[in-house]
Amino acid sequence: MKGRTTMEVGADGVAVITIINPPVNSLSLDVLQSLRASFDEALRRNDVKAIVVTGAKGKFSGGFDITTFGGIQNGKTESPKRGYVAVEVLTDIVEASRKPSVAAIDGLALGGGLEVAMACHARISTSNVQLGLPELQLGIIPGFGGTQRLPRLVGLSKALEMMLTSKAVRGSEAHDLGLVDAVVPANELLSAARRWALDIVERRKPWVSSLYKTDKLEPLGEAREILKFARAQARKQAPNLRHPQVCIDVIEEGIASGPRAGLWKEADAFEELLRSDTCKSLVHIFFAQRGTSKVPGVTDLGLSSRRIKKVAVIGGGLMGSGIATALVLSSYPVVLKEVNNKLLEAGIGRVKANLQSRVKKGKMTEEKFGKTMSLIQGSLDYDNFRDVDIVIEAVIENVSLKQQIFADLEKYCPPHCILASNTSTIDLNLIGEKTWSQDRIVGAHFFSPAHIMPLLEIVRTQKTSPQVIVDVLDLGKKIKKTPVIVGNCTGFAVNRMFFPYTQAAMLLVEHGTDLHKIDRAITKFGMPMGPFRLVDLVGFGVGVATAMQYIEHFPDRTYKSMIIPLMQEDKRAGESTRKGFYLYDDKRKASPDPELKKYIEKAREISGISVDPKIANLPEKDIIEMIFFPVVNEACRVLAEGIAVKASDLDIAGVMGMGFPPYRGGILFWADMLGSKYIYSRLEEWSKQYGGFFKPCAYMAEKAAKGAPLSSGPMKQAKSRM
Ligand SMILES: NC(=O)c1ccc[n+]([C@@H]2O[C@H](COP(=O)([O-])OP(=O)(O)OC[C@H]3O[C@@H](n4cnc5c(N)ncnc54)[C@H](O)[C@@H]3O)[C@@H](O)[C@H]2O)c1
Ligand SMILES: *[C@@H]1O[C@H](CO)[C@@H](O)[C@H](O)[C@H]1NC(C)=O
Ligand SMILES: *[C@@H]1O[C@H](CO)[C@@H](O)[C@H](O)[C@H]1NC(C)=O
Repeated sequence: MKGRTTMEVGADGVAVITIINPPVNSLSLDVLQSLRASFDEALRRNDVKAIVVTGAKGKFSGGFDITTFGGIQNGKTESPKRGYVAVEVLTDIVEASRKPSVAAIDGLALGGGLEVAMACHARISTSNVQLGLPELQLGIIPGFGGTQRLPRLVGLSKALEMMLTSKAVRGSEAHDLGLVDAVVPANELLSAARRWALDIVERRKPWVSSLYKTDKLEPLGEAREILKFARAQARKQAPNLRHPQVCIDVIEEGIASGPRAGLWKEADAFEELLRSDTCKSLVHIFFAQRGTSKVPGVTDLGLSSRRIKKVAVIGGGLMGSGIATALVLSSYPVVLKEVNNKLLEAGIGRVKANLQSRVKKGKMTEEKFGKTMSLIQGSLDYDNFRDVDIVIEAVIENVSLKQQIFADLEKYCPPHCILASNTSTIDLNLIGEKTWSQDRIVGAHFFSPAHIMPLLEIVRTQKTSPQVIVDVLDLGKKIKKTPVIVGNCTGFAVNRMFFPYTQAAMLLVEHGTDLHKIDRAITKFGMPMGPFRLVDLVGFGVGVATAMQYIEHFPDRTYKSMIIPLMQEDKRAGESTRKGFYLYDDKRKASPDPELKKYIEKAREISGISVDPKIANLPEKDIIEMIFFPVVNEACRVLAEGIAVKASDLDIAGVMGMGFPPYRGGILFWADMLGSKYIYSRLEEWSKQYGGFFKPCAYMAEKAAKGAPLSSGPMKQAKSRM
């Protein structure tokens, strides 16, 4: 059903206009046109004195309908410019109306939703609402007047903060800020709003047009200073993003040339940004993130998740305690099992430290800390396992130990209990080999530190039952992770896609690229750190151990460099030893080390490589391509092998697991913007010069030959047979 509004006129002379467009009453063009029609009618009717605008089912409005962005961006949807429609409807009809309107806000008023509310002459909300302008998160700016009205209601600094961080405020803060005029209980919301609207008619309450308020605005000179500071901060935080700068420009236009000029500039900028690559990428990520829990053949079977009431974690090491922390933070009672008292105390101590650091940062009260800590129960045996619904095993990587544990679990846990392993290297089938429970064995691959990193790879085997996957997906979401379903292979999705990332960097250095130039180029591209800084952080020990796996499983395309082994001989192991590819001071600040040359030259000698002048003078663009195209290549393999269900899952995995910049849309989305043909031809060229490491895989060759997007996925078996 199309979105619409309804209008009901009460005996008190108040017309209540309700926005109806489930699930969040988003503002499609239909809704806006219907809002216009309802207002026209309310203005025409003599029995209407004042107007209340609200949303159906306890939600004011979640803002503009994002699902329509795609059609507009690819030119399929013919559409009037939304910004101009908004000026007509919100500014010239709602705000300019000769009958006052009051927004009655429950649930949420985000983006366009808040912008509609700000066009009304007053706002009444409940305490539990979320009010915000999160448009920048999607690569656009508020397009319904938000850049003009918010600063006039809450002041410039706060408005900038709300827009640039996309953070929403709750009712009482909104009241303090002046964004809402009163906060009332939900059951009094409509009556309070009606009364307020009539009070405006009777001039007992002020009739305020937000757009022309000036009392919260600084004088122009002062405002310019604030804007200048915000610009510099945004440039520092998001050097690759233009839209935060555009947002600030649009705000400035309104302050310097008047709100009407600001509105037109906002409308134009919105239309332009909507078609930008940044917006396309961020909108893709928005839907991709919500799409990871849609798994064909699993989540479309009509199964609902079973309630998990109690969880057991085996192993209180770094990983186990992080997982336990994430669980208790989401109110799950947890049994933490260890082998002896000393290790148990250490494990519980780590959970405590994790929680205490939240208290220190002001993210948790002492009272909540106590309550959360009381959810964790230590154990040295399986006595407390009789009523657990899921066990997550996080012990050291040892097949026979894990097999023993799973055999024990089968004995002590109830038959419905899910058995999850945090293994990263051991085949799940092997772990479950000695049990009868293979349908309830699943991998739960967290990233370290588990209570902070947002991604959860759920590893299924051919035997894992759909019900178990549905349950773990639900648990993942409840503990605020983004779950991605993957099949079992070396490195699963993230580590496997990104193993060529560091290897390509080593290859470039051996052939003559300056290492710092590489880290700089990759950081400028948008990664949180360059590959060498990352290897230092992870530690050479872990790095070498994982590299061995790739050498074993993918010998044809693993680049073997001697640089790290040579450095290890000198007891360099990365940041933990304060010496790796950089030197580290007490504050973990990295600085270059002139000694590095020695190791690089020695490594060249061993592998018989001489400096290639072309590689030594590689422009930044080529550095980025030579490092990321092998990652794209591996992502293609992961997709072709069916390890990932869909390309967008890999986009999310890279963004959440490795920090690939979301405004580039994820690894395959980014690749498709460059084109499969182009990437294929470059990899082909490099593989001739520098070997099999760069060789494009069959899947990529096939897509390139057809000029098809890499994200289009493997052909269905049936089709390819035809
Ligand atoms: N992919 C990677 O890069 C990576 C890195 C580190 C760890 N891991 C995996 O994570 C898991 C744990 O890692 P970690 O860093 O927490 O290791 P850790 O050594 O810090 O912790 C393991 C803990 O489990 C305890 N333990 C061992 N056997 C046990 C048993 N039978 N019952 C209860 N407790 C037992 C140990 O005493 C130890 O405290 C392992 O499976 C490991 O393979 C993967
Ligand atoms: C692995 O675990 C088994 C069983 O607990 C143990 O006997 C063996 O020594 C362990 N192996 C290693 C390499 O730690
Ligand atoms: C899991 O991975 C191993 C090793 O990579 C492989 O031999 C096995 O066939 C895989 N199992 C499944 C069910 O995919």
